[in-house]
Formats: sequence, C-alpha cells, structure tokens
Amino acid sequence: MSREKSVHRRTVLRAVAGTGVLLTLSPGLLLTGCDGGVKAVESETLGLDSDEYDVELNLYAMPDSVPILPGAPSEVWRYRAELLKGPENTVSENPDSYLGPTIRLRRGQTVKIHIHNELPEDTTVHWHGLHVPSDVDGQPRLPIRPGETMTVGFEVLDRAGLFWYHSHAHGKQGGRVGFQSYAGLAGLLIVEDKEEAGLKLPSGDNELLLVLQDRTFAGNNELVYMGGGMGSMMDRMHGFLGDRVLANGAPPTTRKVATRPYRIRVLNGSNARIYKLGWSDGRPVTVIGADGGLLQTPEDRPYAVLAPAQRLDIWVDLSKSQPGDTLELISDRFRAGMMGGGMMDGMGMMGSNALPLGSRFPLARLEVAESVEASEPLPAQLGVQRQKIPVNSNTRIRSFELSPVMMRGFAINGRRFDRTNVADDEKVRLGDTEIWEFHNNTPMPHPMHIHGLQFNVVGRRGGNSDSLQQGLVDSGWHDTVLVLPRETVQVAMKFERFDGLYIYHCHNMEHEDAGMMRYFQVQG
Ligand code: C2O
Ligand code: CU
Repeated sequence: MSREKSVHRRTVLRAVAGTGVLLTLSPGLLLTGCDGGVKAVESETLGLDSDEYDVELNLYAMPDSVPILPGAPSEVWRYRAELLKGPENTVSENPDSYLGPTIRLRRGQTVKIHIHNELPEDTTVHWHGLHVPSDVDGQPRLPIRPGETMTVGFEVLDRAGLFWYHSHAHGKQGGRVGFQSYAGLAGLLIVEDKEEAGLKLPSGDNELLLVLQDRTFAGNNELVYMGGGMGSMMDRMHGFLGDRVLANGAPPTTRKVATRPYRIRVLNGSNARIYKLGWSDGRPVTVIGADGGLLQTPEDRPYAVLAPAQRLDIWVDLSKSQPGDTLELISDRFRAGMMGGGMMDGMGMMGSNALPLGSRFPLARLEVAESVEASEPLPAQLGVQRQKIPVNSNTRIRSFELSPVMMRGFAINGRRFDRTNVADDEKVRLGDTEIWEFHNNTPMPHPMHIHGLQFNVVGRRGGNSDSLQQGLVDSGWHDTVLVLPRETVQVAMKFERFDGLYIYHCHNMEHEDAGMMRYFQVQG
C-alpha cells in the first residue's frame, strides 16, 4: 500500500453527532509520521544559488500539539523556524499558537531557506505574493516528500508589504492546500524597505498583526475538517466554513492600547470565509495598504472587504479616546449572492454551519488603558515608488470564464487542474503587459490569485452585491482579487524577470483543491 493511500485511509475518521461524517485531525494520524524515518537529503539550492546569503533559515513543517481553546490541546500541523544567519528579528515564533513564525525580510536581502518536511505526506511552501523564480514558488510540481529537505534561495525583490506562506501540495486524490493550511501550515511574511520606514508609521507595539481564520472543533478540541458524504459535497461547493473565528490562532481577545494611532495589518488566512471589516462605533475604516504594500493615499471606507488570501493595512487613531473606552473590529453582515438561486440554494439550506458566511461577529477588541501624548499624523502621501502598470486600448486582454462543473466544483475556461499542462491560451511572453479578465459565470464569489507578481485592478462591471461593493479596495497592488457573482473584473500585470511555470487559481481553498486552478507559462 502506498503511503498516500494509507494516509488517506486514516484521515477518514469519525462521525461527529449531528454534523454528518467529518474529518478530524486525530493524534493517531499526526503521530504516525512517515514510514521510513527521516532521510537527510542534501540537495542543491533551487532558485538563486550563491555562495553568500544575507539570511539563512531552517523551516520545519511538523505535527505538533498546541492549546487553542480552554481544555485539551489540539493536534495541529505547523511550521517552526530556526534562524541560521541574519538579523535577529528575522524570525518571531508564535509559541502558543499553531501559526507559523512571522518572518521579517528586507527588500534586497538574499535568502536561503531549508524546508524540512516532517509530515506524513507531501508538502510544499508557497511564498504567497512574492516575485520569486518559478522553482522557488512552492508549486505542486515540486513536492517535498516526507522526511526530505528542499532548499530554496531568492532575493527579496518586492516592495514593503504583508505577505504570507502556506502549503500548496496537490496529491493524486486532489489538492491538499485546504487540509494542510487548515491544520495550521501558514505564517506571515513581512517585507520592509526604506521607503516605508521613511513614513514612520506606527511600529513595534503599535503595529498589530492579525491573522483571521475560522475553525470547527470536536468535543475534545480536535480540529474538524470535511470528510465524505453530503456535508462534504456542500463544503466543496461553498468552501469550508468553520463555526468560530480565530484571531492569530486563538479566540479573539482584548488588546490594551493607548491614546495614539495604530497600524493593523490583517491577513485573511481562512479557507473560504470572506470578512467585511468594520468598527463597532461606525467610524470609517482607513485603509492604507493592500496585498502588495501601501496605497498611494489613504482611503476611508464605511467597511473593507477581505477575501481569502488578501491582506489589508488599516490605520486607526485612538488619540481622541479616553482610558476605559473600547473599540471592536468586527466582521459585519453581508450577502455575497451565493444563496441567490440555482443548484447552490437548496444545498445551502441544508448546511449546518453555526456561523454562516456573512454573519456578524467580533474579531478584536481594543481597550484604551493608557493616556499618552503622541501625535503621529497619517501621511497624506504613502506609496510613491511603484507606478501603476500603464495600459491602453492596445493592451492584450486575455479572458477567463469561471463556470460550474456539475458536482465537481468549478472550471476556468472549461478546464480544471491538469498537472503542469498548459493550454495555448495560457502561454504569455516575458516582458509583456496584459489585462486578464475574469468573468464569473457562477452564483458564488471567487478570490482569484495569480502567482509570482502583483497586479493592478483595472475595473469591474456587472456584479451586484450592494452589501460589499463599497468595501472593495481596488487601488494599489494585489495578488488576489475578489470576483463577485456574475461580475467581470479586469486586472493588469507585467511578466517580469522570471520565465517558466506559474499558477493561477481561486483561493477559496476547497475550490482550488477541487481543480479550480491552472498552470500558465511565461515564455522567455
Ligand atoms: Cu496563497 Cu497559490 O496561493
Ligand atoms: Cu472559487
């Protein structure tokens, strides 16, 4: 029996009363490990190969057990890192959480990372949003086998921003991104640069990092993911929604703050949930950055939409508050149109989720505990260094239709994931600027992600989701764009520096795992 099969068999575990057959992360699965013991593989470095790196680290993907809820600890899969070379603040562990360590890099650094797979199945590490060579990108075509090590090297070319890293494994049975990320294999990666540092935005204790994820727990605090049967079919269509939201791997907490401005940097690391960020007192959400770093100028929105894999940089000024005041960051109610008729409707009705998509719930509570004299005005001009990609009526437009495949998820231009096969209309030229147009011919929202670059949103038309529209942040640089039901969205990008294979896909991880993902090729 192959390893893949035996793991697969062990993961279909138990029925949890009332919710159908679900899959839990059982200690049995997690502690079994790989059959053959750890093999030390000294491999060559993929990507940038040099004698000298500014930063070098070991990154382990491993089973672990951490406290998440009161009571028994939960079995998880997680990353741990060990800094071998580089500035001391490069790695900050999140010891009491399943979240991977936060990795801080500076633009221009050269980085070498040894990725050790101590899991019982294949994995990869994808540096979400970073402009890196194809071989470093953590794609499914380069799996790291259990017990093996892969070494990647790259130069940090991106401007300052909040990025993240997560598993991108895809096995013979389908994608494992949903399962592995859900089990805990994700962490933040921050790029810093001189331009951003010059703005003197709130930093240190005044910069709050917030990773939003939703999870479901069984009776003994085991994480529950989807298994077989009807419930699972629904989860695959909608994407998995947990019945509670975790902030930084724990139930949302109260944070003591002072009367001053704060920078809140939020990642949606959820498998499928969309958040509608707002403040409990109704004040506008001041957005200063998105996936690919700071916007040109701050934008005040009534609320801000954060789709899976997206990041938002938010500035909030508490200098007019009094000690004792509290302010909650919430996710507000919305309708994303997915219950809007058709086949999905009836299935949605049968859902047993305690926290449906578009419910209102708190994400973080700020409690003003201290009065300080701090005046750090928000600069009116934020990003200057990267000009928008110029497009005109001659820019090539490449169209992608997102459509349902009966009982099997969703397709892109009628195609589903097919290993590294690339169709003729998925080949682009190095150096070209293109507009990609995603046309959503489904009743569900899809957060579309393109590897290896940051793009600009050119425009959108046709979607009608009144309860989200004003919160879509389309200015600035993005690697993931939310395409609402029936909507057409255009994004502009330039294929620079690296040729080779990259992927584009829906970042609803269950959609992606079910095949809503394709390779494209940048031809040199
Ligand atoms: Cu965050 Cu292809 O992924
Ligand atoms: Cu999707």
